[in-house]
Amino acid sequence: MRLGVGTGSTVDFFVDALGDRAKHLDAVVSSSNATTAQLQNIGVRVSELNAVGDLDLYIDGADEATHHLHLIKGGGGALTREKILAGAAARFICIADDSKLVNMLGAFPLPIEVIPLGRSYVARQLVKAGGQPIWREGFITDNGNEILDVHNLTILNPVDLEDKLNQIPGIVTVGLFAHRGADMLLIGGDDDVVVVG
Ligand code: A5P
Repeated sequence: MRLGVGTGSTVDFFVDALGDRAKHLDAVVSSSNATTAQLQNIGVRVSELNAVGDLDLYIDGADEATHHLHLIKGGGGALTREKILAGAAARFICIADDSKLVNMLGAFPLPIEVIPLGRSYVARQLVKAGGQPIWREGFITDNGNEILDVHNLTILNPVDLEDKLNQIPGIVTVGLFAHRGADMLLIGGDDDVVVVG
């Protein structure tokens, strides 16, 4: 199996659980420098996506998830590589605790990765779209870009909003994973795991 590994505190547990089993995999691809370091710490050889081709499985967390398998991601700032790995994967399983399962996306501010030169322009467009963008000051992504966290969006139709925001020049990646949502959610509660999808 060619496995993609996401980023975040939930994925940290997954990497720990993966441990020795990683040696049975054909390839492991990482979505961030942080995850790469964690994988390498436990002796996993991390491959480049360009060298591996498509992935069989991608495992990642989310900041919010719905029963429709739409997600908000990017709280950790790794959304661009995460979206690429999710797109390259035949199957995307999202792991999260039950605080992440919501009826409607948007209470968690939507992370958007932007080219630094276009940050203010993009922010003005996001205001026109009804949001309140806040610059994640001092944070630079693994790709050398910046993040705007967009508050107060009413996300009634995540697919349409993802389409609309993707048209704004200067936006690298929108942290809405609606076109390519998860194939399955594993939602951990205190006593059990609920499977959605
Ligand atoms: C990283 O950029 C994010 O997309 C994470 O996958 C998401 O924020 C979930 O992170 P936690 O597991 O730390 O809540």
